[in-house]
Amino acid sequence: MSELFGIIGNPIAHSLSPLIQNEAYKLNKMNAHFQAFHVEHEDLETAIKGMKAIGIKGFLVTVPFKAKVIPFLDEIDPIAERTQAVNVVQLIDEKYVGYNFDGEACLKAILEDMGKPSLMKENILILGAGGAAQSIYYTLSQFEDVRIDIANRTLEKADAVKKLRAHHKHTHAISLEEAENKQDQYDIIIQTTSIGMWPKTDQSPINITHLKKDAFVSDIIYNPAETKILKRARENGARTQNGIKMLASQNALSIEKWTGHKVNDQKMIESLEEALS
Ligand code: ATR
Repeated sequence: MSELFGIIGNPIAHSLSPLIQNEAYKLNKMNAHFQAFHVEHEDLETAIKGMKAIGIKGFLVTVPFKAKVIPFLDEIDPIAERTQAVNVVQLIDEKYVGYNFDGEACLKAILEDMGKPSLMKENILILGAGGAAQSIYYTLSQFEDVRIDIANRTLEKADAVKKLRAHHKHTHAISLEEAENKQDQYDIIIQTTSIGMWPKTDQSPINITHLKKDAFVSDIIYNPAETKILKRARENGARTQNGIKMLASQNALSIEKWTGHKVNDQKMIESLEEALS
């Protein structure tokens, strides 16, 4: 019998997950199918009970249910608990367990494109302090020797993110202005705000003028494919990466979690690039 996986959201019609998940199943000769489910707010609990009843082994969660889904799950992992956001659910021993893979997917994407096995003593700037930034910070701060500045328009929110890993010695919450001034100190810059996303493509959280030589700049936005900050970073000689790789990594990690199959995300990246162009 074919295994069924899916994604819940509202709206969900434009999700690219069915395309790349189903392609990956085919490529890896897996007997599985991935389906997008549009769920009304008032039906969320019933939908989750129904998915369990029909034996759906795993599903993705997207806007607007990342927090709202939590009361209807049986367990959530520490990072999902801390950030109050779930984007991957797996059925384990008849229990739905929620995870947040933003951080892991971002780390995987960055390491792969930088050609590094791990992080060491890099100076990292995270722009933003929203849901994605929290998960990314939590994952990156597992490396004790990296230095992480979290820059945000609202400083209190950057401070709150820092508290997710209170014992990390090298984390600082700073203003966007300070980040802009010391941009040449960072080896890696990760843009997690919505600034620069279509249709407001002429905006950038900081003005890129003097990056460190060999800096790596990643933006979690994938529409447009090159945000203003990435364009400026590229013109400044930096290596850049958009959010497509992270999106592909997130889907690849979910398949690995659900089925144990390690999938190569290169085909996913190509399909996403084609669908978005
Ligand atoms: P997500 O959960 O997708 O990360 P979010 O929680 O809404 O989204 O967070 C959005 C991030 O973008 C925040 O860091 C936000 O800054 P504030 O905490 O100060 O609100 C940032 N952001 C959004 N629009 C912005 C703008 N025009 N200028 C500066 N920061 C902005």
